[in-house]
Amino acid sequence: MKRYNVAIVGAGGLVGRAMLKVLEEQNFPVARLGLFASSRSAGTELPFRGETYKIEELLPEVFDDFDIALFSAGGAVSKEYAPIASAKGCIVIDNSSAWRMDPDVPLIVPEVNPHHLQNHKGIIANPNCSTIQLVVALKPLSDNFGLKRVVCSTYQSISGAGNKGVEKLMSEISGEVTDAKPIAYNLLFHQFEPSGFTVEETKMINETRKILGIDALPLAFTCVRVPTLGGHCESVNVELENNYEIEDVKRLYANTVGVVLMDDTSRDSYPTPQITQDTDPVYIGRIRRDDSAENALYLWVAADNLRKGAATNAVQIAQLVIKED
Ligand SMILES: NC(=O)c1ccc[n+]([C@@H]2O[C@H](COP(=O)([O-])OP(=O)(O)OC[C@H]3O[C@@H](n4cnc5c(N)ncnc54)[C@H](OP(=O)(O)O)[C@@H]3O)[C@@H](O)[C@H]2O)c1
Repeated sequence: MKRYNVAIVGAGGLVGRAMLKVLEEQNFPVARLGLFASSRSAGTELPFRGETYKIEELLPEVFDDFDIALFSAGGAVSKEYAPIASAKGCIVIDNSSAWRMDPDVPLIVPEVNPHHLQNHKGIIANPNCSTIQLVVALKPLSDNFGLKRVVCSTYQSISGAGNKGVEKLMSEISGEVTDAKPIAYNLLFHQFEPSGFTVEETKMINETRKILGIDALPLAFTCVRVPTLGGHCESVNVELENNYEIEDVKRLYANTVGVVLMDDTSRDSYPTPQITQDTDPVYIGRIRRDDSAENALYLWVAADNLRKGAATNAVQIAQLVIKED
């Protein structure tokens, strides 16, 4: 089997570390592994397949000998370095929002739109964590019943804000509150746009339409940061084009690759952030008919934002890339 030289940019971050784990678990055919971050964490050692690798400082010349680079070091790094890596023939799979809405960059969730990968130009974008789990849940409904409108409220864990977010929550829980808006024992909105929407809400709306290929799909989203450590949850209300039976929807999800149906309220069984932690699937539960609108239903969707919401999805894209190769 052909093996590939793989770089991880942002290797010491929450997503970068999850990428290392997923590459190892999935036995990705790595020939040479390169770990990169800023000079701040250069020298930090991380384990991979029983060996220890040192993080090196990210510089333009590091990409000379890599086939695939998984980027998770924020938008500014991706904007600057993804074109450099790509020009050297290294295929970039980028976790930041820098390239997601670029019309020349495919935005991929392998269970949903693998066909968009064709004719990529060297940079491939991984969607926002909350978008990924939502579109995995929407795709079977779209294919079987048609989508008319989607309303979604997110409950996004603090690990979505990276190492600093988790450290902030832990220090606030231990009593060190320095922020006027702590995340401990609180709920927050992040980064408002002049429109009153948050950047996260706009990202989710634009990305959902791009991935599903439905430009004018009516969407109404509210994104909330919650003080959980890992796993994003979403309350989703969907209006379908066609009539459905609850049992058909449950059967559909029970047979969807990448989805775990967890919906037995008689046994108190439903997805929680803790259940998703360190696992790859998208969990779906609380499936109920909504009688307040025609052909409407409720879903509760949960996934580990660091795994399916980031690292696992990126490695799945890399697997599609090498399959094409
Ligand atoms: N967390 C999530 O759930 C999630 C989900 C989907 C997508 N993402 C995206 O993935 C990216 C990383 O997220 P994260 O949660 O892993 O963040 P994180 O824990 O803060 O890690 C960021 C990583 O980027 C590196 N980095 C920062 N500035 C750099 C620079 N100028 N040059 C080189 N490396 C630099 C950091 O290295 P140093 O320690 O050396 O600074 C660190 O390794 C972000 O774009 C985020 O939006 C995150």
